[in-house]
Amino acid sequence: MTDRPTVAFAKFALPKKGSVLVLAAEGGGLGEQARACDPDGVLSRAFEVAGFSGKLAKSVEVLAPAGTGFDRLSAIGVGKAGAIEEGGWLKIGGAAMAAAKSATDIAVIADLGGSEPSAEDVANLALGMMLRAYSFDKYKTTSRENGNGEEKSADKAKITIQCADPSAAKKAFARAEAVAGGVLLARDLVNEPANVLGPVEFAAKAKELEKLGAKVEILTEKEMKKLGMGALLGVAQGSVRPPRLAVIEWSGGKAKEKPVAFVGKGVVFDTGGISIKPAGGMEDMKGDMGGAAAVVGVMHALAARKAKVNAVGLIGLVENMPDGNAQRPGDIVTSMSGQTIEVINTDAEGRLVLADLLWYCNDRFAPQFMVNLATLTGAIMVALGHHHAGLFSNDDTLAERLTAAGLSTDEKLWRMPLGTEYDKLIDSKNADMKNSAGRMAGSITAAQFLKRFVKETAWAHLDVAGTAMGSPHTEINRSWGSGFGVRLLDRLVADHYEK
Ligand code: BES
Ligand code: MN
Ligand code: ZN
Repeated sequence: MTDRPTVAFAKFALPKKGSVLVLAAEGGGLGEQARACDPDGVLSRAFEVAGFSGKLAKSVEVLAPAGTGFDRLSAIGVGKAGAIEEGGWLKIGGAAMAAAKSATDIAVIADLGGSEPSAEDVANLALGMMLRAYSFDKYKTTSRENGNGEEKSADKAKITIQCADPSAAKKAFARAEAVAGGVLLARDLVNEPANVLGPVEFAAKAKELEKLGAKVEILTEKEMKKLGMGALLGVAQGSVRPPRLAVIEWSGGKAKEKPVAFVGKGVVFDTGGISIKPAGGMEDMKGDMGGAAAVVGVMHALAARKAKVNAVGLIGLVENMPDGNAQRPGDIVTSMSGQTIEVINTDAEGRLVLADLLWYCNDRFAPQFMVNLATLTGAIMVALGHHHAGLFSNDDTLAERLTAAGLSTDEKLWRMPLGTEYDKLIDSKNADMKNSAGRMAGSITAAQFLKRFVKETAWAHLDVAGTAMGSPHTEINRSWGSGFGVRLLDRLVADHYEK
């Protein structure tokens, strides 16, 4: 686990050292508490010189202002006071953390002079800081550069946020911190190289959720064989590292209530198998477990904040390797459902893993809904780039709720079609279906394949190939592995499934 800053809340008091960050509203200048940090008015003067007007997430800094013990004093723009949304506070937090640079002592003066940020706002600001502070630099033993041309982040910083009601902010932050823990855990898992994080090691990470009160069961190859998971096992058979299936249960709801279910593709490395991928960029396939990472992340968040819901998370952990024992194009495997699959392309492995996971999840838990996350197709990036994940669903209510949760967390989804015309494309001449139907509508035919394993249960498939990794940097993410999906699903649960 990478280091994380600590966050505390306190009443207003003039800080004595470190990086001090004050908020500035557009057109409103500095509040009273902020002005106290700027006795000589140098920061106010810097506004003009730097052309700073308080626009959201812009900042301006002065070094060691006279008459204070600070190293730096920065103003962070919040935009128009009174019109700041939840996502705005995350961005303000992100910009604040960036302005604090590598300081180990950071004080944020959350005063706007007039329209005070609520406890929720302050908690979101703190969450934004935690998410921005993350940097995967555990393997950098010599350089202070994080590889983005930026200094190694202040991930061990002590952050104190001064605000009007510190105890209310602290309470609100307890929840935000649970979510931050989930997002950062997911990022860590995605960033970790596959030599370190194989199926067994990943399963051990999932097992650690027991510390938060979740129940975690790890199924071995033998158990999966017994269950008849021929599709998942076919993918795993080319690797010397055995597969695992982790079942994570969080029971925070009523005893009889059906769980909500999250299912994740956990291909710890995807070489393509015998249908091997080209070498260029193949290293990115260490992130082909981004769906599973998000599932572990959201289960972490739910357990850590003791969500009043029953939830299960299932992740299928395999490595897709070419080998003397690997499956071949043309092989026919029998899935747990009994349906047979002709493996046209061993690189279309994610759907094979998910087929058995979805079936098993439905069979064992009869959940209220299933949402699966998977870095499933390159085609979804051709369609949507890095700014939306693809959403496929057999249920309009679930699809609408997911879309709304996506908008409020800025983890956006775009709904794509399903239909019998597309379903036909995966019929096989030798088996019940084939795992690849060629280039046309590649993301949709992959979704149609999954749909054959969900029966009548409300289900959504999120194709996160373009968003779980390698997406453009944002105010709250500078990491290759983004943790996409954790905040989204946490929000879905909070808004609709907690009582
Ligand atoms: N893991 C890949 C999809 C992927 C590609 C994710 C790039 C992230 C970045 C998946 O297993 C895959 O190889 N899909 C194939 C399917 C094809 C063989 C039908 C693809 O998208 O090319
Ligand atoms: Mn593949
Ligand atoms: Zn894959």
